[in-house]
Amino acid sequence: MIRGTNGIAALGLVLLTGSLAFAQAPAGGGQRGAQAPPPPMTNLQIFPKDAQRQQVLATMQAFTQSLGVQCNYCHVQEGRGGRNDMASDEKQTKKTARQMMVLAREINEKLPTAVSKSADATTRVGCATCHRGVAVPKQITDIVTDAAAGGGASAGLARFRELRERYFGGQSYDFSEGSLIAIAQRANQAQKADDALAYLQANLEFYPKSARTYQTMAQIKNGKGDKDGAIKDLEKAVELDPNNNQAKMMLQQLKG
Ligand code: HEC
Ligand code: HEC
Repeated sequence: MIRGTNGIAALGLVLLTGSLAFAQAPAGGGQRGAQAPPPPMTNLQIFPKDAQRQQVLATMQAFTQSLGVQCNYCHVQEGRGGRNDMASDEKQTKKTARQMMVLAREINEKLPTAVSKSADATTRVGCATCHRGVAVPKQITDIVTDAAAGGGASAGLARFRELRERYFGGQSYDFSEGSLIAIAQRANQAQKADDALAYLQANLEFYPKSARTYQTMAQIKNGKGDKDGAIKDLEKAVELDPNNNQAKMMLQQLKG
């Protein structure tokens, strides 16, 4: 009896709140009966022209999450008192996003053949597959190396710390033990051994027990002719990871 009515009322409330949230009704403006329906969508070029609004908005939510941005990253949306024109194409990011939709579609069309699977059994590539929560999905090794090209290892490390501060724990960037080691190896290959050592030293702040970090330091120091330093680092690497045969062998060689 009353129960059923309550259930329906509750459902109605949920639906109403939901639609209000989408329409972004001004606070305190409720209880006036039906909201004006949202304007029809007028500029769909990738979605079918007659796409359901809910379906478009669900995709839009996924866009914001995949790229770690808000609606106004792509849309003219200034809120109350400002311009709000979701159909406008004046932001380059929106135009790029359209091309990205086409790109993702093309990848998904070609993927089943590439992996010799049926379309059903093939993993789908979405925005998040590449973007992982950032608008420009660049690898952290590239970002740090680029920063260091201008200001050396200290600039590279500053950038690394900044990103770590903001993104640690998420999927946007790799902050695992191997990340600064890879960055260091790249610097070393570019004849910047001191930069490489600075990266590895910083890595020990985050991973004080990283035998791999000490081992890489040893390789670089040895390359610079600092045999004593290399031996010390290798001893530390073996102490931390007694099963590290590579470090043991290097140590034997260096000790002669
Ligand atoms: C990464 C860029 C991007 C983000 C972020 C984004 N959108 Fe969109 N949006 C687009 C693109 C691209 C289209 C056009 C799709 C097409 O041409 O079929 C679009 C279309 C729309 C439309 C249809 C407009 C019309 O009249 O044609 C609406 C409504 C909309 N978005 C709402 C939103 C909302 C709400 C958010 C935030 C939750 C959002 N969008 C976030 C890129 C974005
Ligand atoms: C195959 C990987 C891949 C997929 C899938 C992908 N993107 Fe991208 N996207 C990139 C890369 C890489 C860039 C950065 C290019 C550059 O500026 O150097 C980028 C750039 C962008 C930009 C411009 C960012 C800026 O500020 O310059 C937008 C917007 C964007 N993507 C939206 C999307 C959306 C929406 C989707 C899903 C429909 C998507 N992307 C799917 C790889 C991808």
